[in-house]
This record gives sequence, structure tokens and C-alpha cells, in this order.
Amino acid sequence: MQDPGSHTLEVDGLRKSFGSNEVLKGINLTIRSGEFIGLMGPNGAGKSTLIKILAGVYQASSGQIRLGGRTLTSLGDTEDVAFIHQDLGLVDALTIAENFALGNPPQRLFGPILNKRAERTSAARALGLVGLDLSVDTLLSDLTPGQKTLVAVARAMDRGARILIVDEATSTLPPRDAQGVILSLAAAAAAGATVVMVTHKLSEILEATSRVLVILDGEMVRDAPTHGLDRAALVEMLMQHESDPHNLDDASHQTRDPVLELRGVHFEDLGPIDLTLNAGEVIGISGLPGSGLHDIALLVNGTLKPHKGEVVESRPRLTRALVPPHRESQGGFGELSIRENMALSALGRWRRLSRVLKPRREELDCARVASELSIKPASIDTTFDILSGGNKQKVIFGRALLLNPDVFVLCEPTRGVDVGTRSEIYRLIRELARGGAAVLVASSDAEDLFSVCDRVALVADGRLQQLRPVSELSTSELELMV
Ligand SMILES: Nc1ncnc2c1ncn2[C@@H]1O[C@H](COP(=O)(O)OP(=O)(O)OP(=O)(O)O)[C@@H](O)[C@H]1O
Ligand SMILES: [Mg+2]
Repeated sequence: MQDPGSHTLEVDGLRKSFGSNEVLKGINLTIRSGEFIGLMGPNGAGKSTLIKILAGVYQASSGQIRLGGRTLTSLGDTEDVAFIHQDLGLVDALTIAENFALGNPPQRLFGPILNKRAERTSAARALGLVGLDLSVDTLLSDLTPGQKTLVAVARAMDRGARILIVDEATSTLPPRDAQGVILSLAAAAAAGATVVMVTHKLSEILEATSRVLVILDGEMVRDAPTHGLDRAALVEMLMQHESDPHNLDDASHQTRDPVLELRGVHFEDLGPIDLTLNAGEVIGISGLPGSGLHDIALLVNGTLKPHKGEVVESRPRLTRALVPPHRESQGGFGELSIRENMALSALGRWRRLSRVLKPRREELDCARVASELSIKPASIDTTFDILSGGNKQKVIFGRALLLNPDVFVLCEPTRGVDVGTRSEIYRLIRELARGGAAVLVASSDAEDLFSVCDRVALVADGRLQQLRPVSELSTSELELMV
């Protein structure tokens, strides 16, 4: 029996099945106070399921959870434990202080008189701890996504949480905001809190964690101190299918004919923007949040119309496919299957062929793309809603692949996907270009730029800077760009 005051978290033989699908196959864990754990594993491995069981969202099929030696059904109602999911659980229409007070027992002065001032002071102190220099009266809706995540961390700390469990809180944040969140979690760990963080980003693991756990197919397969690990060692721990992310074929492309041009395009604060996409070439653009990076992508796609200037297409009925930046909200249809979600945009193609061809063709195409992207579960009849976060992203990517258009507009193409899929996506993008497509990658991830693009440029001050061949740039120059 442990000291009940300790915060050692133990998980013993935890199993979980959804129907006949066993997603967790007996997980064992011991995590001590002050540890900063990085929890990694491929898309669909069971990371979020484990966290949802700890939070009490799902019930385990069997197994035990203990905190400081006490057996609990979940940690969901334990004051000492805070969960930060991607959906942060904050209310946009309320101020920071009001969000802090949400769900907290009110601080009272005398009887029914609430001590608002004490609440505000402690909220302000917590904001300071995560490095946010904002008034507690700021409306949540006025904050950037990165600031909102920091508010969620600050709120957890304000509530005195000794254990912070964080599921991919940085995956949708631009690098600098993500960095702020990681630093504040590291500060919490340094002050004695336990942090368990799920991430696909190797740099975050190396920078902040003290121990790495890897889940593969519902089993905990690796448990190693971070100290002494490097990027290559982490990739080695994670890879199921061996493909080298940087082993990309550099064969020069036959055609470099212009396919689509933005000429003197203005949109809101952007402009004038000049950009030419060529067949067989991958162009990368990057920039800070608010730079208009994704707006340029949407202008290329035709989703946004320029206020001034023109978008010139090399031929009539040029086809385009978009992978949108906010797939969490602009992504899939929850109740439809993987196959239906993928086939949506390509329906016309199959319909045209439907007299000769049959659904069978569509099925084969979807199955091929699903397997190229290692979508899990492998059955394309699986409902979209039950997919893991990364697998949802892959379905949306697969939808664009199936369209096989002249121009691919890919916003944040590797957001939320695991290390193996990332290299597979890079390989697919190169293949698209080799097949003659013009590709635009709009990304805030430096690795996307140097792994897959031919030429890259930064969006800053409303302008697109000059495109430069990636081969002329060093990695650190590229990292500085984003
Ligand atoms: N409510 C549910 N019903 C049925 N199956 C589910 C449900 N929730 C999750 N699953 C399945 O459990 C498996 C593990 O999913 P989970 O979300 O835990 O993966 P993950 O490791 O978090 O992946 P990612 O890195 O993509 O977020 C997946 O195959 C998923 O389809
Ligand atoms: Mg997940």
C-alpha cells in the first residue's frame, strides 16, 4: 500500500473492446510525481482510448486504475487530475476569469457572498505561470488557438491539478504557439506536477519529456527514458513499416508547364500576390498564423475569390482538390463510412461511368487509397465517427487523392498523422507531382517544406516572398521561416 498522499498513477491490465475490436490489450503503467511522460504510437493505436478511460469517458472492459494506491474507476472526478483534450472545454463567449470559474466551487467571503476578487487574482496568477500577459477580462473568442490552449493549462494549474493529461493539444497549433504550451507544461513538471502528453511530434518529445511510452496496436511496447534518445532512435521505436522519410526520389520532372497562376491577386490584407504553379512541381508556402498562408491556398483552390487581380487557368475546366486547414471542423461526415467520405468528391467520376462500371470500382479505389495511407481499421465500411483523430485526417487526404485532379491544394497535409504515415504522405505527394499534377503545400511544419517541396516561400506582411529552391536552403533557414 502506498502513501495515500502520493500521486503515483498505476494502470494494471487495462483492456477495452469496442464490439469485437479489442483496442487496448492489457495496458500496464506506473507514473510517478514529477515525471513528464510522452505517449506516442501510430494513428489508431489506442492512445486517446486509454486517456478517455482514465477520464471516465469510456469504461474499461477490465483492469485497474490506482492513484496513490487507491483503486478508482476513473480519474475524471479527481480534483488532482486535469485533462486537456483537443477540444479544450472552454467557452468562447465568456471571459478568461469566467472560464476559470466554470465548474469550480465558488470562492466565498461570507455565506452567499462570492469572493470574485480572489477568483480574479488567482486566475491572473495562473496566467502568469503559463506566460500569458492578458487581462482576465479578455473574451476567449479574442484569443488565438495557442492562447486558448495556454488558458486551459493555466486553468488546470489554478485548480491545483497535480497530474495533467494532455491529448494532442499542440497538433493544430503553429510552431511558436505549440512551443509556448510545451514550455508551460515543462514548467508545471519542474514544479512537481506529473504530465502525460500524447503527441506525434518528435521534437516535443525530445525537448520536454523525461520518459517515452509507445503504444502499438493496443499494447505498451516500449518504455524508455528520453535522455539519450535522438530523433533517429525515436523513429526506430515508432516505425512499423520501414520507409525512410527523407529517401525521396529526386528525379527531375519532364514537364514544368504552368497550370495555374495568381496574377496581382489581392484579398483582404493580402496582396499583390503573384504565384505560378507548374505541372510536376511541388510548391511550399509557409508563414505565421494570420499571415494569410491558408487564404492563398484557398484562392488557388477557388474557394476564395480575389478582390482584385486574376486567377489564370491554363485550360478550361481545370480540376482541383483541397485538403482544408481545419479538418476538425471542415472535414468529414460523422455518420458516413470511410468509403462514402472518401468517394464524396469523386462521385461524379463514378457516376459518369456507372452504366459501364459499378460500385465495385469505387470500392477498389477507396480500398487502395485507404491501404496506401494505412487507415485503421482497414475496413472501408467503418463509420467515420469512430476513427481516431489521425485516421480522420487521412480519410480527408484520401478524398483528395481519389479525385486525381490537375492541381492539389494541401493545407497542413501531415497534421495529426503518425511518423510512418507522414513519410507515406510525402511519398504520395512526390508521386502526384511525378504524375504531372501541380501541387501547393501550405504548411507551418518545416518538415513538410524540406521533405517534399521543390521550391518554397514565406508569406509575410501580406506578400509572398520569392520562391527559392529547397536544395539551396539549410534546414535551420527553413525552420526559421515557420
Ligand atoms: N467509440 C468507438 N467505437 C468504436 N471504435 C472506436 C471508438 N473509439 C475509438 N475506436 C477505435 O479504437 C482504435 C483506437 O483509437 P484511438 O482514438 O484510441 O487511437 P489513437 O492512438 O488516439 O490515434 P490518433 O493518433 O490517430 O489520435 C481505433 O481503431 C478506433 O477506430
Ligand atoms: Mg488520438
